[in-house]
Amino acid sequence: MNYAADVSVCLDRILESTDLSGLTKKDATLFTQRLEAHFPSLFEKYTYVYGHQYDCYYHLQKLVETLRDGVKKRKPALKKLDENRLKSPLWYRDEKQVGLACYVDLMGPTLNDLHDRIPYYKALGITYLHLMPLYDAPAGDSDGGYAVSDYRKVNPTLGTTADLEKLADALLKEGINLVLDFVFNHTSDEHRWAKAALEGKKQYQNYYYVYDDRTIPDQYETTLREIFPQVRRGSFTFNEQMQKWVWTTFNSFQWDLNYSNPEVFNAITSEMLFLANIGSAALRLDALAFIWKEMGTNCENQDKAHVLIQAFNCCLEIAAPAVVFKSEAIVHPDEVNKYIGEDECKLSYNPLLMALLWNSLATRKTRLLTRSMQKSFAISDNCTWVNYVRCHDDIGWTFDDDVAQELGINGNDHRFFLNQFFTGRFEGSFANGVPFAENPSNGDCRVCGSLASLCGLESALQNNDAKGIEEAVNRMLLLYGITFSIGGIPLLYSSDEIAKLNDYSYRDDVTKQHDDRWVNRIAVTPEDTALAMEKVQRTLSPQEDASLKVFKGLQHMLAIRKTHAVFGKARTYILEASNHHCFAFSRENENGEKLLVISNFSEHVQQVDGEILRTLNGTSCKDLLSDSTFKGDETVVTLRPFQQLWITQ
Ligand code: GLC
Ligand code: GLC
Repeated sequence: MNYAADVSVCLDRILESTDLSGLTKKDATLFTQRLEAHFPSLFEKYTYVYGHQYDCYYHLQKLVETLRDGVKKRKPALKKLDENRLKSPLWYRDEKQVGLACYVDLMGPTLNDLHDRIPYYKALGITYLHLMPLYDAPAGDSDGGYAVSDYRKVNPTLGTTADLEKLADALLKEGINLVLDFVFNHTSDEHRWAKAALEGKKQYQNYYYVYDDRTIPDQYETTLREIFPQVRRGSFTFNEQMQKWVWTTFNSFQWDLNYSNPEVFNAITSEMLFLANIGSAALRLDALAFIWKEMGTNCENQDKAHVLIQAFNCCLEIAAPAVVFKSEAIVHPDEVNKYIGEDECKLSYNPLLMALLWNSLATRKTRLLTRSMQKSFAISDNCTWVNYVRCHDDIGWTFDDDVAQELGINGNDHRFFLNQFFTGRFEGSFANGVPFAENPSNGDCRVCGSLASLCGLESALQNNDAKGIEEAVNRMLLLYGITFSIGGIPLLYSSDEIAKLNDYSYRDDVTKQHDDRWVNRIAVTPEDTALAMEKVQRTLSPQEDASLKVFKGLQHMLAIRKTHAVFGKARTYILEASNHHCFAFSRENENGEKLLVISNFSEHVQQVDGEILRTLNGTSCKDLLSDSTFKGDETVVTLRPFQQLWITQ
């Protein structure tokens, strides 16, 4: 029997014994059609990972039942959305797309309060709202919600699942897509699976990596990276109740799920479809690099991690095709790109661009940014980057050491410099960052801090330094401007848009003080939004004035982005700017529309060879940001400190 026949026999058998009577006739037909289209791929992936296990086909049958149940529970409005998205799947490459990520409690404080924030989102032009984990989680420290105790229950402090669905509907009516986290590498130790494991149930202990003694953990640990060395050394935690060791890549209360067990794959698929069926347009795959463990490796980015994500993607195609995955792989750039693909994650964070924008601010040089983007920016036309400047996490310096080496930069030394610079330990630095996760064994460290504080606003305000304030504002607009224009969905991190400073109050909170990422998890209050929407009728403080300038600057750039198709579906070409303080790229779409972006990362005036304007065919052209025009034959292009030009014909 050949392979193709084998798959179809398998599907026939599964369908013969799958009860579809609970589905409407239309749904049953649709489900069968989608299975016919995507089951071969699902089968291939599933059997690749689980084929050697005696009960593989039993679990495969169960998985199809889970998918059927997902279809059954999907609301009619979402099924309509599935149809529409299948007709125009590339919505995420549209120039109109702009994202915002926020914590519900820091913006709400409840889900119901967020309805009142919709005018604010619309004023900025947001079309994609990522609500950070809002699921039930342990009280006190829950890693900012990334330790999930129940995927189907909203954290009662934020509201209910009904509130979430109501919000998703209200957002959709306003053209805003909801994006949710799918935290699937681990659960909290209070999840019902973990609780059953704690009670000694073998079936549930097999949901996690649980060991009687240190023999196997010791073997793994010789090659593992420590993620949070400041809270615990190593990657395992001894559990008193079970008297066993549990794999905990992150905090000790976050137990890694055991994907070598097909029952775990099926159970988590069911949770995933629940989240898809709430009405999310995309699911952020949290810590996806870690889901497969292989002895003798660092257990990150393993081949089977990719195969599993592809299998999950097949499940989405069958049960909720409007939903796409967003990859959160904060790893080596070559590894980041491997998660991106039509059959895996259609969206991906761009940590390389993020880190190198900061690098260019510190060094005032763009060589590493230019060279790295030339190497890594191009991805499939059917996928897109999610470009960001700050997020709720730390900044890790994840550039490629080989690329740095070609430019004569030693990766390790340079990371040391960047950490010193952004934590303000380097003389002359403008940044007020906080070191994070310092590893006492190897000196590694990462950086936390808000956009504004890292860009120099905090120290300039302290020193009453008007020029410093202006430079800080311009740095913020420069970094965001690049994420708005380079290609991909720009993702603002809530509180950046109004330039809020570091919030040091976490140092007084025992549940937060060991985790410095809280310095950049900052509330946006109704007073802040009133300020941004110019509803405050009084003289503004220098800080408020800077906040408003940043908000209006971002708003202006976003409005321009949305009215020119070339910011959407268009190729990006990273250019050599002929001045190592400047970064340049061009865009071109299928209709021949072109854009040329040039930016200056230094606090001095810079000039770029006018030859660069010939990218736009040498005719007269205009900067969309300032409205100034060029004849096209200039010998030099002059940029003010931190200026950015968005030039079109
Ligand atoms: C991701 C999250 C981070 C969390 C970790 C573990 O990296 O962004 O906040 O600590 O995963 O879930
Ligand atoms: C992420 C990253 C790590 C990051 C951490 C949370 O998944 O891999 O570098 O710092 O989790 O902050």
